[in-house]
Amino acid sequence: MKQLFIMVGLLMSLFFSGCEQPKETLSIIPVPLKAEIQGGAFVVNEQTRLWVEAPDADKQILQEFLAASPLKLAVASEAPEANAVVLKQVAELPGVQSPEGYVLTATSKGVEVRAKTGAGLFYGVQTLLQMAHEANKVAFGTITDEPRFEYRGMMLDVSRHFFGLDFVKKQIDAMAYYKLNRLHLHLTDAAGWRIEIKKYPRLTNFAAWRTHDNWKDWWNGERKYVNEGDENAHGGYFTQDQCREIVEYAQKHYITVIPEIEMPSHSEEVTTAYPELSCTHIPYKQADFCVGNEKTFEFLENVLLEVMEIFPSEYIHVGGDEASKQSWKTCPLCQARMKKEGLKDVDELQSYLIERMEKFLNKHGRNLLGWDEILEGGLAPNATVMSWRGTEGGLKAIEGGHRAIMSPGEFCYFDSYQDAPHTQPEAIGGYLPLSKVYSYNPIPESFTPEQAKLMYGVQANLWAEYIPTKEHMEYMIYPRILALAEIAWSADANKNYEDFYGRALKAVEELCAKGYNTFDLKNEVGNRPGADKPVEHLAVGKKVVYADSAKYYPGYTAGGDDALVNGIRGGWTYGDKLWQGFIDKKGLDLTIDLEQVTEIRSVNADFMQICGPGVFMPAQVIVSVSEDGETFTELAKIDHEVVKDDEVTFKTFGWEGEPTKARYVRYQAKYGPKGLNGFLFVDEIVIK
Ligand code: ACM
Repeated sequence: MKQLFIMVGLLMSLFFSGCEQPKETLSIIPVPLKAEIQGGAFVVNEQTRLWVEAPDADKQILQEFLAASPLKLAVASEAPEANAVVLKQVAELPGVQSPEGYVLTATSKGVEVRAKTGAGLFYGVQTLLQMAHEANKVAFGTITDEPRFEYRGMMLDVSRHFFGLDFVKKQIDAMAYYKLNRLHLHLTDAAGWRIEIKKYPRLTNFAAWRTHDNWKDWWNGERKYVNEGDENAHGGYFTQDQCREIVEYAQKHYITVIPEIEMPSHSEEVTTAYPELSCTHIPYKQADFCVGNEKTFEFLENVLLEVMEIFPSEYIHVGGDEASKQSWKTCPLCQARMKKEGLKDVDELQSYLIERMEKFLNKHGRNLLGWDEILEGGLAPNATVMSWRGTEGGLKAIEGGHRAIMSPGEFCYFDSYQDAPHTQPEAIGGYLPLSKVYSYNPIPESFTPEQAKLMYGVQANLWAEYIPTKEHMEYMIYPRILALAEIAWSADANKNYEDFYGRALKAVEELCAKGYNTFDLKNEVGNRPGADKPVEHLAVGKKVVYADSAKYYPGYTAGGDDALVNGIRGGWTYGDKLWQGFIDKKGLDLTIDLEQVTEIRSVNADFMQICGPGVFMPAQVIVSVSEDGETFTELAKIDHEVVKDDEVTFKTFGWEGEPTKARYVRYQAKYGPKGLNGFLFVDEIVIK
């Protein structure tokens, strides 16, 4: 009997020895290039010591960072034999091309990270921290890792709503953890100037302050600035010392801070504080600087001199987006400049400014970065383009031999809704769930290896018009920035959304525990029903004839004449190219031919409304039917009062009734009255 127990015990121990050391599953974001993991794990404990072999500056950063990390690693007095975390800068690292790459090896003796630079060691450390997050366990094995892109960025708009130093530092912490390395600060815009410039005190004692805390209230009101210290003054700015503190803090996280100083537009706060810098010299009149006036260049160069003193980054971002250029057409100084310089239009006048600023920056050892509008009128010779209006700008820049950074609105604008709009706080519009961010690949298949080299990287932009609090900012950033981090760092072949989603769920828990206010990913509602899976109905695949001048708008075809009978519904945004848009005189007026007389019970179509960009519900819908295509009988005429609101809404208009025979079904939708009559957007005419 006793022998039997021993046998069972042996068998059990054999069985459990496999379970005792299960193959660890890694949950690292961004997913590493290569991970060879064995059973078992090294456990960091209180006796584990740190040993760093790297140049002094990096050594100090890494030691301080790890001492303050959850592992609380103390430095060993001499090279430890075992129970150690060793970071070694090496001259050669087989299998790793990028200077930011690393190799992490975990054995029973401890963890060793090797890299060619301090940044590489730092990224190895982030992987170590993510691995050790659960019970200080680091799975035995080797991770060989390096980034896909050199530039891995996030932009924070601190103009529309100002968030101070601590907020920025907290985001730097998270950026570093997920291996992002560029923080772009949108420091100036109409809503407030946010950086102290000693030579121009009105920028911060006036242009940084406004009458309303909330951007929307201010924007929809009189858009007035006030003096610092006034009773109703809202806003703020970073002092130069605070900017230096951000730069230094970022450097300790191997992150470069790129300041953006907007020109020639988005500058109402400047042209109101210093009206002589606009074409009319009238405050509150123009967003654009006067490009004909030398004073503008004197101002911009003086500002940039102070900015360059503070920010050591290679790039200075000069904005360049959305200039109206209107006042330049009649301004005598701008016209004189155009004549003198032989500039044929105002686009070339903008290019003149950008090229001059580029020369100035280059003279000071810096490079110019700007939004893709800097391509219009000719791109400055050394400029890098940040592509936001789609990807075309970036691709064009690359074709011309320039570097590009991709931040297309469709994939990288984190001010869009991240879930069904009715479940979310008000946003600027759009619909950009985690999965959509993740689906972005900045390198098109058509690219040659030379072109791919000029693709410098990718960036998420968080514009803050509709984001009045720090908590709300974080809510919009997390977890979507994790998807961006994986696009930016991980090899395309290693990407897999299901796998990423599981890791993102864990990361959200971790971020919450660290005090970040994240979107509740596990309770995500998802896209609008029907947008991902076709719906069946009688009109699918049938011919549609649009009445004259009731044709859809070329920018919103949803795929063309068959879009409203293809069984595919639109999602939460007309930006998904699944909604057909109408703006022509007649509204929507089309007839569907069911090919034979058919018994029908309902005809319905959904419309969406989002008033900000001018998308409204119809004021009237008429459904009529015919057997011969000549004589139509009206089945329903629905009058609808269009009401302006702040939401994204969806509404079905149509007819339902006793079964009726029809071959031709005519659907008409008419615009609301003036002020309530922008675009009509419809996704499908569903006939049952
Ligand atoms: C931008 O979104 N205007 C760059």
